Amino acid sequence: MKLMQRTNLSADGINKSFSRPGEHDPLKVLEDIHFEIREGEFVSILGPSGCGKSTFLNILAGFEPADSGHAACCGEHIRDPSPERAVVFQSPVLFPWLNVKDNILYGLKLRKDVRNEAEEIASEYIRAVGLDGFWDYYPSQLSGGMQQRTALARALVLRPKVLLMDEPFAALDAQTRYSMQQLLLGLWENYRHTIVFITHDVEEALLLSDRICIMSKRPGRMIEEIAVPFERPRPLSLTGTQEFSMLKGHILGRLMD
Ligand SMILES: Nc1ncnc2c1ncn2[C@@H]1O[C@H](COP(=O)(O)OP(=O)(O)OP(=O)(O)O)[C@@H](O)[C@H]1O
Ligand SMILES: [Mg+2]
Repeated sequence: MKLMQRTNLSADGINKSFSRPGEHDPLKVLEDIHFEIREGEFVSILGPSGCGKSTFLNILAGFEPADSGHAACCGEHIRDPSPERAVVFQSPVLFPWLNVKDNILYGLKLRKDVRNEAEEIASEYIRAVGLDGFWDYYPSQLSGGMQQRTALARALVLRPKVLLMDEPFAALDAQTRYSMQQLLLGLWENYRHTIVFITHDVEEALLLSDRICIMSKRPGRMIEEIAVPFERPRPLSLTGTQEFSMLKGHILGRLMD
């Protein structure tokens, strides 16, 4: 049983618009977003394409300011990116000129507090993501799944409080995707990160998360929150049950509203 305590990340009344080329009125993307995630919780965000999910994640990451409203991590207003909030994107962001180990070591070497143990910590995470034996490969020599595992290790090695994931497995084939989901769940159980996970895949959200937040079409608003009722571990066979299909159908219906 995971211990869920303090609020780790919160958003209160977030609004965001973007100016449009050649148009007078800005495009309203996010409207009055309220969101909260507690320490150690795994929450997925689902919503139609273009509804503002990545924009919201970018605000939580500190890449983008909100027009109004308040986003906070551990009670502190989010202004800038921080190593406390690691981001994993759909396409793995790796330095092509560094091998797996050096990609993972990169952030650690910038930190004075762990510099002496950096190699040891990097090796632990290389093992954790199943890349033992590939530490000296360059990104171009890795498969898509292996690149994403390197990106995941690179984010996790800094022990962030929050992991912000924007469709991290969307580009992978079904089998690799399943093994990445299992890997992520294993890492989550071990290291107890707080995870915000954006996906288009309703089954993925139901298999992975404690809670699912559904957004409306643009301007994105939070329209429903669902506590996922299935016990863990959740075997793939769960997807064939009536309760699973009904919940999936309900969510798909909300997404098409
Ligand atoms: N930097 C930007 N400048 C102008 N418009 C932007 C910018 N970033 C996003 N938008 C617009 O905001 C809207 C929401 O984009 P966003 O990427 O957040 O959607 P999304 O929900 O992540 O979609 P998808 O599911 O397709 O990834 C889109 O209409 C997009 O054109
Ligand atoms: Mg997006």
